[in-house]
Order: sequence, then structure tokens, then C-alpha cells
Amino acid sequence: MRTACLSLLLVTACWALPFHQTGFLEFMMEDEPGSGLIPEHAEPEQPRVFDEPKCPFRCQCHLRVIQCSDLGLKVVPKDIPDDATLLDLQNNKITEIKENDFKNLKGLHALILVNNKITVIHAKALSPLTKLQRLYLSKNLLKDVPANMPKSLQELRIHENEITKIKKASFQGMAHMIVMELGSNPLRSAGVEANAFADLKRVSYIRIADTNITDIPKGLPSSLAELHLDGNKITKVTSDSLKGLKNLAKLGLSYNEISTVENGSLANVPHLRELHLDNNVLTSVPPGLPDHKYIQVVYLHVNKIAAVGTEDFCPPGFNTKKAMYSGISLFSNPVPYWEVQPITFRCVFDRTAIQLGNYRKK
Ligand SMILES: *[C@@H]1O[C@H](CO)[C@@H](O)[C@H](O)[C@H]1NC(C)=O
Ligand SMILES: *[C@@H]1O[C@H](CO)[C@@H](O)[C@H](O)[C@H]1NC(C)=O
Repeated sequence: MRTACLSLLLVTACWALPFHQTGFLEFMMEDEPGSGLIPEHAEPEQPRVFDEPKCPFRCQCHLRVIQCSDLGLKVVPKDIPDDATLLDLQNNKITEIKENDFKNLKGLHALILVNNKITVIHAKALSPLTKLQRLYLSKNLLKDVPANMPKSLQELRIHENEITKIKKASFQGMAHMIVMELGSNPLRSAGVEANAFADLKRVSYIRIADTNITDIPKGLPSSLAELHLDGNKITKVTSDSLKGLKNLAKLGLSYNEISTVENGSLANVPHLRELHLDNNVLTSVPPGLPDHKYIQVVYLHVNKIAAVGTEDFCPPGFNTKKAMYSGISLFSNPVPYWEVQPITFRCVFDRTAIQLGNYRKK
């Protein structure tokens, strides 16, 4: 009987066990090894007609995971079990989240609404979700970050929407947030209000790529380990913008319009390991690299750097760096690579770590 179910997996129906909600997840989560290959004479499962938990029509419910993706749904289904921990509604045609759509889902940990057509989330719709940790809203038509998001939230993905401004009020008191993905939104020049992220005391990852912001957001929390701001219109790295980021390990600023990195910027991020500044309009190597103890990767390819001095990367004399460089790229700059003195790279792990000439260029 079970083998008949297996062959029908792709149509998500299982005729052999009509009273038992069966689906892909169940096969993935079966305890017994070799499940799905139980011989014909095995004990048939007890049909659980009356104690079967409710499950929205056409969705699949198993172990408090409610799967309702790719069903062409235009609204959030009713009768979602109250004890659901994960609700997956991605790839549907939902246009609106109404006030009571999630009213009873007090145990929900993850809500996935990626790739719908949501323009509005009612201001009270998310308030009942007091245990919510992950909220995935990417690929919708939202013009604002939702109001009253649960304070329990640890991860917010709201990539590819139509948000023009990130307001300070949006993230007030969200002390548990760890990951924020806000990229590919039409954020304007000053699209992130100062101190918008100041309350995120534990945040470790922020990505705001491919927007029109012209500055590094102000007042970033000191917990930040990764900041990805690639593909924006940032013109300058000011030392103030990186002040206090003592945990920052990765800074991505590729594909911007950066012409200057202020002296003192790198001193403000003493634990930086990777700095991506390729595809900008820098005319010199950023100041402060020789004094930096931990930086290992510096991408500077495709800029307008016309000269590289012997003291640009490494400390003079005795090597005081705690970590050698493992990657430096300088190709596609106007500096003639044969004019760069080999001694410039005396604190680099090995020669192959340096991409200097144009041989890498496509
Ligand atoms: C940035 O601004 C330009 C000009 O106003 C606009 O055409 C473009 O769509 C904007 N990009 C994004 C990602 O919002
Ligand atoms: C940068 O600042 C340091 C420390 O204040 C100073 O010693 C150095 O000369 C400055 N470099 C430039 C290029 O201004």
C-alpha cells in the first residue's frame, strides 16, 4: 500500500490512506528506516478519523508544520491549527494580510510569505504572534516595513519589495533580532533614518544591497559582525559611520560610487577581516591598512587607483600584523602593475593571494 503512495508523491495525494493526511514532509520525517517500502502484509495504520487535527484544505500539516505553498491562494486560509509552529504560504497570490489572519497562532515560530502580491499588512495582524522568530516577506509589494512586528523576532527578510524608507519606529525595542535582509528595495538617497537600527542590540547581520542609499546608515549597533551594502550609491566612507563597530568582521561596499575612505575609518573597526571595496572610484588605497591587526582580505579591483606605495598595506619594518593577508585584489586599476614593488606585499601569506595584473579581467 505504501509503495502506491510513494509513486503519487508528486501529486501530493495518497489514495491508499484516504483518512490520513499524507505528504512529502511525512516521508521526509518518517522514523523507521526504509519507510515507504513496508511490505504488503504489514499492519495497516489505524485510520484516525476523529482525532485527526484540522488542516486547511489542500495544505499539508505534519508535526505542527503547515505547508500551503504554491496553491494559488488569494487569502490566508482559515482553520490553521492553533498549535502551528511553522506556516509556509510562499508562492501564492495573497494580496493582503488582514487583522485576524493569524489571530490564534500563539506558538508560531516561523511565517513564510515570500513571493506573494502583498501590498498591505494590517497594523495589528502580527501582534498575536508573540513567539515569532522568523518572518520572511521577500518578493512582495510592500511599501513599508510592517507595523508592530513581534519583539521576539530574530530574523526579518523583506528583500525585493517597494519600500522607500526605513523608519526608526519600525525596529523599536527589537532586542532579539539577529539577521536583517532589506535589499533590492527602492530606498531613496537618505532612505534609512538615523538610528533606525539602534535598538537591535544583538543584530549580527544586516544587508541592504541594490538600493539608492548614498550613505552608510548612521547609528549601527556594536554587535554587528557583517554589514553588506553592495550595489548602492554610497560616495564616501566616513569614520563616524563605523564608530563603535568593534565586532564588525565583514564589510561589503562593492559596486558603489566611493571615492574616499576617511582616515580613521579602519581604526573604528579593529576586528575587520574582509573589506570589499571593488568596483568603486577610489584613487588611492584606503588609509589605515598597515596599522590594522586582523584584516586579511582587501578587494580593490576595478577602481581608479593610480599608484600603490610600499607602505600602503603592511606595517613598516617588523610585521606587527596579527594575521597575514590572504587576498588582495588590485586588477583593473590604472596603476601599472610592474611599478608596484614586490616589498609592498611583505605581510601577505603567499604570492597567489595577490591579484595584481589584468589577467583576471574577462
Ligand atoms: C534609483 O533611482 C533611479 C533614478 O531615480 C531609479 O530609476 C531606480 O529605479 C532606483 N533604483 C532603485 C533600486 O530603487
Ligand atoms: C591618519 O591618521 C593617523 C592617526 O591620526 C595619522 O598618523 C596619519 O598621518 C593620518 N594619515 C593621513 C593620510 O592623513
